[in-house]
Amino acid sequence: MSLAAGPGRGGGGASAAQLPDELQLVVDKHVAYIQSLDTRRDELEYHLTEHLRISGIYWGLTALHLLGQPEALPREGLLDFVFSCLHENGGFGAAPGHDPHMLYTCSSVQILAMTDGFAELEKNLPDGKMKIAKYIASLQQPNGTFAGDQWGETDSRFLFCGLLALSLLGMLPNQRPNEPPIIDLTAATDHIKACQNFDGAFGVAPGAESHSGQVYTCVGALTLAGELDSYLGEEGKDRLGAWLSERQLPSGGLNGRPEKLVDVCYSWWVMTSMAMIDRVHWIDQKKLTSFILQCQDPDQGGLADRPGDMVDVFHTCFGIAGLSLLRYPGLVEVDPAYCMSKPLVDKFLGRK
Ligand code: FPP
Ligand code: ZN
Repeated sequence: MSLAAGPGRGGGGASAAQLPDELQLVVDKHVAYIQSLDTRRDELEYHLTEHLRISGIYWGLTALHLLGQPEALPREGLLDFVFSCLHENGGFGAAPGHDPHMLYTCSSVQILAMTDGFAELEKNLPDGKMKIAKYIASLQQPNGTFAGDQWGETDSRFLFCGLLALSLLGMLPNQRPNEPPIIDLTAATDHIKACQNFDGAFGVAPGAESHSGQVYTCVGALTLAGELDSYLGEEGKDRLGAWLSERQLPSGGLNGRPEKLVDVCYSWWVMTSMAMIDRVHWIDQKKLTSFILQCQDPDQGGLADRPGDMVDVFHTCFGIAGLSLLRYPGLVEVDPAYCMSKPLVDKFLGRK
């Protein structure tokens, strides 16, 4: 498949034409790698990753959408699997028989949005959208944050995933100002603001060390709530952008916090936060593009955390999503908050 094929964009960022041959994105190989994942049931790794299965499907499907191959996995099979993870209370587990959890509920809602599966949802669970929304709302805690499940562990990841899924369901209070709010959005954003540190970045909970993954969840939550610009202002964006730009190391790759190794998934957590605060140009984009491409397995497809390591679908998704933010030629634009195809999210939410 030609890299120029599909609904890509021209201009800006690194140009593939400037990269040596061995550093081109091997699109066909990545598509084949993702398609092969469900056929590896005789491999130990398939079973060791069962506790993440539905998120794995979301990562693979997102990568395929960004590669311009949204139909490369069969829709019916995807929907059958998603519904096999659905519980009566509106929550989804990672795989059939697994307890419901916020992370897997978010991935399931994202898959339903990507496959236009909400009509089928109603057949499997009458009033399904409202039941999912109520499940998510039931996990909000008195201090505004969200638990991951009924056992009560809290984390800004769960808060972000709750807002993201509610947003795709059209149930965030700021999307329906004339309806009774299903969650306390102000308490949620107040909690996010309390997770910000003196360095301008965010941690998993108030007082916790700044971490780029949590920066994404906190900046993403403020974006979904429509409060990012008013809360941070240009000064706050500069301070956060400075901390994020220090994540780039001489190899061109990014780390998650000081003194840690580079890892291709931070091409997403860091860069998408930079995109949301409009500071992508503070990173050396050509060097980062080159680092991400070096993480590919050029023969079998897929991306690894670092060059030469074993590939996996998590790093494949976030490496490709990072390249999309860097406007790698031929890739579909990614939405920074939703980590899904931007044209799809725009259409789904009726934006623009
Ligand atoms: C690093 O984790 C990444 C994070 C902490 C962010 C995780 C974010 C989510 C689960 C929300 C995802 C939602 C979407 C839509 C993409 P790590 O455990 O690898 O950290 P480490 O590098 O410090 O080990
Ligand atoms: Zn990683």
